Amino acid sequence: MIIAVDGPAASGKGTIARALARRFKLPHLDTGLLYRAVALNLLRWDGDPESEFAAIRACDFSQIDFADRELKSEAVGGVASRISAYPGVRSALLERQRSFASQPGGAVLDGRDIGTVIAPEAEAKLFVTALPEVRAHRRHQELQGLGRHSHYEDVLIDIRARDERDSSRATAPLAKADDAYLLDTSALSIEAAIAEAVAAVERRLATSA
Ligand code: C5P
Repeated sequence: MIIAVDGPAASGKGTIARALARRFKLPHLDTGLLYRAVALNLLRWDGDPESEFAAIRACDFSQIDFADRELKSEAVGGVASRISAYPGVRSALLERQRSFASQPGGAVLDGRDIGTVIAPEAEAKLFVTALPEVRAHRRHQELQGLGRHSHYEDVLIDIRARDERDSSRATAPLAKADDAYLLDTSALSIEAAIAEAVAAVERRLATSA
């Protein structure tokens, strides 16, 4: 079974995807990490994020340690959201994601275009969202918890800018697949959001069996 979990930044999709992977005993891929790895390579090579050519050259994972904490930084996330708009970058990362999705037994993938482009055949699709203010508040608290300097207003501006870039790009924009279950986590605790996600996948399994 393939489970596709899409949604905007800080919607809770990563937490939900990891919980679904544990619950259904499936391997999990956070596809945002692939775009972040390209961004980190580019930054370390001093490449220009405005150049698609430089970004495509940075699609070399031989140098990347996926446990590198720098991958999760706001600076890397910002560059990732820019270089992810390049069709050449998206196609360089396509095969890796498709082969993860199609491994025997299935997988859980989270990202922006899993249910629409990477695995449109997924048996279960979730589109996880929340109000921008709620997502900004979560991200702000997360950053403060990590001891990083953070201003709520700046985080909200950044979240809105990423939403705009992710939704308006021409190639594989952030979009809910027609057959995805819409899960709005604005007013939900993590536990309640996970419970609703598990129930949605189980319903999908029951109807497709
Ligand atoms: O999910 P995360 O914030 O780690 O993703 C970093 C960036 O990578 C996002 O802002 C988005 O622009 C891009 N991305 C994407 N498609 C995916 C996953 C992430 O365009 N499947």
